[in-house]
Amino acid sequence: MKITAILSVIAAATLVSAGKVHPINAGREHVSGGYIIEYEDHANHRDFQNSLRSHKVDFKVRSEYGIFNGAAITVNSEHGGNDLAKLPGVKNVWPIARYSIPKVKQHKKTDKEPLSDHKMTGVDVLHDKYKLTGKGIKVGVIDTGIDYLHPAFAAKGADKGCFARYGKNCRVTHGWDFVGDHYDGKSTPKSDSDPMDCFGHGTHVAGIIGGNALHIVPGKQGPAPPAAFVGVAPEVTFGAYRVFGCDGETGNDIIMQAMELAFNDGMDVINMSLGGGSAYKTAPEAVLGDKLIARGMALASAGGNDGSDGVWMVSDTGLGDLSSSVASFDNAFQLLPSYTFAGVKHPYGIASAYKKVIDLPAMPIQPIFEADGSLSDGCDPARYAGLDVTKKIVLVLGDVTRCKSGGRGTVAVGAKAAGMVVQTTPFGIASLGGAPGFPMASIENKAGNDLLAAWKKDSKQTLTWSTKVESIQVEGGGFPSGFSSYGLDGDLRSKPDLGAPGGAILSTYPTAKGSYAVLSGTSMATPYVAGAHALYMQAKHAKPHGDVIRKAFKNTATISKDIGVSTLTSAAKQGSGLVNVLNAVLTTSSITPDHIDLLDSVRMNKKVKITIKNSGKKSETYSFSHLPASALVSYTGNNTYPLATPQIEADSASVVFSQKKVKIPAGKSAKITLHFEEPKKGNAKVWPIYSGFVVATPTSKNGIPVHVPYTGLKGDVSKIPIMDVEDGWPAFTHTEGEVSKITPYPKVKVLDFTNPKTPSFEVTAKLGSHTPNYTIRVYKASDKSFVGYLASDGEAAIGPRGRNKLANTDGSENVWSFPWVGQVVSSATQVVPTLLPSGTYRIEVASQYKFTKDEYPKNYEIFDLKTVTIKTAA
Ligand SMILES: *[C@@H]1O[C@H](CO)[C@@H](O)[C@H](O)[C@H]1NC(C)=O
Ligand SMILES: *[C@@H]1O[C@H](CO)[C@@H](O)[C@H](O)[C@H]1NC(C)=O
Repeated sequence: MKITAILSVIAAATLVSAGKVHPINAGREHVSGGYIIEYEDHANHRDFQNSLRSHKVDFKVRSEYGIFNGAAITVNSEHGGNDLAKLPGVKNVWPIARYSIPKVKQHKKTDKEPLSDHKMTGVDVLHDKYKLTGKGIKVGVIDTGIDYLHPAFAAKGADKGCFARYGKNCRVTHGWDFVGDHYDGKSTPKSDSDPMDCFGHGTHVAGIIGGNALHIVPGKQGPAPPAAFVGVAPEVTFGAYRVFGCDGETGNDIIMQAMELAFNDGMDVINMSLGGGSAYKTAPEAVLGDKLIARGMALASAGGNDGSDGVWMVSDTGLGDLSSSVASFDNAFQLLPSYTFAGVKHPYGIASAYKKVIDLPAMPIQPIFEADGSLSDGCDPARYAGLDVTKKIVLVLGDVTRCKSGGRGTVAVGAKAAGMVVQTTPFGIASLGGAPGFPMASIENKAGNDLLAAWKKDSKQTLTWSTKVESIQVEGGGFPSGFSSYGLDGDLRSKPDLGAPGGAILSTYPTAKGSYAVLSGTSMATPYVAGAHALYMQAKHAKPHGDVIRKAFKNTATISKDIGVSTLTSAAKQGSGLVNVLNAVLTTSSITPDHIDLLDSVRMNKKVKITIKNSGKKSETYSFSHLPASALVSYTGNNTYPLATPQIEADSASVVFSQKKVKIPAGKSAKITLHFEEPKKGNAKVWPIYSGFVVATPTSKNGIPVHVPYTGLKGDVSKIPIMDVEDGWPAFTHTEGEVSKITPYPKVKVLDFTNPKTPSFEVTAKLGSHTPNYTIRVYKASDKSFVGYLASDGEAAIGPRGRNKLANTDGSENVWSFPWVGQVVSSATQVVPTLLPSGTYRIEVASQYKFTKDEYPKNYEIFDLKTVTIKTAA
């Protein structure tokens, strides 16, 4: 075969060390034939292209990078990633991964409207008292573009915003559209100089960083915003780097181009929050990110919106050692109407099918009960039997297991109730759909309990509605958002780094799409941190490196509690806490490093040195303390896949400080040794992730305490199950139509790979945790001899993998699926896969345990998939 001959030329050229081929993350698609290559330090573009040509690789250059020593190419010949890795001077090879715009929740107009989130972070004081606005700082937005004509981006005195080309004093001074409207991540990008946003996400992000809707004259300059708002740094200027078409997918080769242009345009800060995916810190954009930070740029990345998937999910893009992985906190303040019962006023949210504030006359209430006397979810009409609910407001529990709000609304309408209040569970004010035309209100969990208790005392009293909408701090507001992803990463590093408001955030939207929107996501928290960087730089009249700012933010963040209990939220969820930009600017103390990774029981870093620096003008005495946080338990039932909602336990480590206090002269620092002991409580067999905070408190008046989070795992991390073996995985699968629709492969007699009509065949697994080496091994059934690692499409089933999510956004299974047509490689360095002869083979999926040496079978979790009989052309 001709191709084989060409490929073997490359094999012959394999000399010293081969480059490393990286897989892409679970659930992420790759660009067919597209690769990002990083060269060895001594190699350059010319060397690489010469060597591609001399090895007869048919290629096209997609991008050549400057700061990242490498390029992105499309390969048109049959060569795959392993072949490229063999070329001299190649250090790393990644298939180009496609990212989608992160899913954000868009809140409806009738939902509760948020108020300013700046009270939570001290930004209100920086604006009002210190007059900080981010003036002089340039922020790059790598996103869907910016609607630069929006009035919230207008310079003082102008009616609308502008882009550099169109006028002076524009807020958007730089920009580039790398892709064009029609780009979908797969098509050929068509770049031009106009970064106008046709999607909305980038305009929302830019508004959070530095929009200003305070000066807008409604009517004259477009519609009035739903509430007054101003971004974190309302005088920064922007670079708008558009990497998405109107459809919302892009390749990471494009993101890297945008990162480099933003740097070359002189941007001080860039923020990226791209689709999630748990992984190791080896993605090419993470590699480039650390290089940019080392050159003085700040970089904030979204921690991810996979909070409902449990631990180990924090997103790959923020995993760089120096970059900030940002978690989301819910906005504490919202604009809401209220009701009064028994003399107590409570806020409520309006069902979106009702569309307006409730304006009913005062009426008694009627709780609906289950047979056991507990408050009913109101899903079953039988629970209304014998009750007269006419001219009454019914009270039910908002549990959505059996029915949704539309269903319980319809039941109440059928029973002729005048209206309904729904107690949110577990806390907060849930968004309700509701039944058309029926007055339904969503109330806080505690408000529901109060209502029930007051009704039990006096069932005749009435509930009155107020139509006035006010700014109210809502139950659950200000806490870490439920959707925000949990750490740790695959190396047990403490991620995410810190939090910012990201739940229910009002900001700008393209004027063509309504001008304003309320969105939720770590995508909204990330630009908050980017804006905070701008305030910090302006306050310091300096542009410190991103890692210096990250440390200031982490050291001074506000540590959050878990809702409804007294323990502090795990650092694997909140990082160091909610950013407090005021304290970060004012503090004259710091602690290095800004996180402590204790690892696990076997490898525990028991003795840790930290450095406290006093950059104030006077000497300062610091006292030390320890704040334990709650532990997260994810493996309580011998489960191989982590719980979607980790159990919260009060297992905490103990810390002994080498001294109780330390006096540090102005401008000097001191080293302190910490001795950690892991929690006495907590079952090592279920691997609790424990955490806490080490605090240094200045004793002088107004001194701002500084802290660092620590995280650790009780038990042996190398025993944590890797593969989900409870739900039928790993398995042989085949795919019908859509790639995502994977069903267990039917018991086939012979897979005839010579017949094109043979259904596709894959070896599929679901990983509940990271593995440093995921391998699929093939053995001859007859004599059990090893014949190689499963290979296909230029890739072999060897290498590190991140964990899988519970499901893809379309509800399909999120799995690693390896298509097979009978090929294997004998090692990671074999270039041309071997086609196996017809026969019966046994297939084994083996995942290396974390933190172990690559010794097989000793350090591998092994799953025998039994045999499959194949017919091939070999
Ligand atoms: C887990 O498995 C072990 C060993 O089979 C058993 O002793 C234990 O009771 C199981 N624990 C749970 C919670 O099922
Ligand atoms: C994974 O295991 C294979 C087989 O032992 C080995 O050749 C390869 O180098 C390993 N890869 C990594 C990344 O450890």
